[in-house]
Amino acid sequence: MTDVLAGKKVLITGSGRGIGRATAIAMARAGADVVVHYRRDEAAAAETVAAVTALGREAWAVRAEMESEEDIAAMFGAVADRWGRLDVFMANAAASAFKPIEDLKSYHLDRTYHVVIHSVVQSVQHCLPLMGAGGRIIAMSSMGSRFTLPRYAALGTAKAALESLVRYLAAELGPRGITCNALNPGVVDTDSAAFYSGDHTEAYRRDVIAHTPLGRLGTPEDVADAAVFLASDASRFITGQTIRVDGGLTLLTGGFESF
Ligand SMILES: NC(=O)c1ccc[n+]([C@@H]2O[C@H](COP(=O)([O-])OP(=O)(O)OC[C@H]3O[C@@H](n4cnc5c(N)ncnc54)[C@H](OP(=O)(O)O)[C@@H]3O)[C@@H](O)[C@H]2O)c1
Repeated sequence: MTDVLAGKKVLITGSGRGIGRATAIAMARAGADVVVHYRRDEAAAAETVAAVTALGREAWAVRAEMESEEDIAAMFGAVADRWGRLDVFMANAAASAFKPIEDLKSYHLDRTYHVVIHSVVQSVQHCLPLMGAGGRIIAMSSMGSRFTLPRYAALGTAKAALESLVRYLAAELGPRGITCNALNPGVVDTDSAAFYSGDHTEAYRRDVIAHTPLGRLGTPEDVADAAVFLASDASRFITGQTIRVDGGLTLLTGGFESF
């Protein structure tokens, strides 16, 4: 998808690592300049910046705790100072506690919802003056928004709210020429998938692959290419949608293995 984002200015949260990093690189390859956002892993963010600049695009890193309104305001302030505009905002950063509901504390829910929901509303408010006559907002959901996964209630319910928020944003921002869509990956081979599966990584990978019609885990690049499409003019009349990028993992119900 060469040049489909030529000259576009992009900010991707959580783009030091994983899906965010792959998306920063894919968007740069498509011609975009990228703000690489990180929270703790400055070295990883620097690696993403280096990968983007090696492609001949502009990139710079910005640190922000997405639970902090002040940090979010400062991050968009830096974009305003440096570029004065933004074409694409991708809300990708997320973190949560993976616990059964019995063990969830209020602060687990508060922190998860702040990163996944509050920060997106606050970020979009900062995006509006920077997007001017049009733009693209992309949110990163997950299969736990619709399907129940073990120990996933905090993040799954937040992602369900995020998909709803995407529809509200699409309705409210459409008249400004801004589209808003979500990507919904299945299981993608990243640090967070390894963290989620804990001591059972190999069994988890085997189970997921056995239930995936396309026969493998997702890669960060699989999701990144879908994000490039949503950021590009090719998706201009698509808004308010959640697109699965899961190799068909969520097509099979289970229970029919003996047929
Ligand atoms: N991997 C999967 O299987 C999968 C499946 C479905 C959906 N997703 C979604 O895809 C997105 C990316 O996942 P990933 O697996 O690529 O994640 P990852 O490798 O674990 O990276 C998470 C990123 O989010 C940032 N982050 C976490 N908490 C933050 C906070 N409070 N404030 C600011 N930044 C924060 C991290 O920054 P630092 O490293 O600098 O701390 C990091 O860059 C997430 O929304 C996730 O829910 C992933």
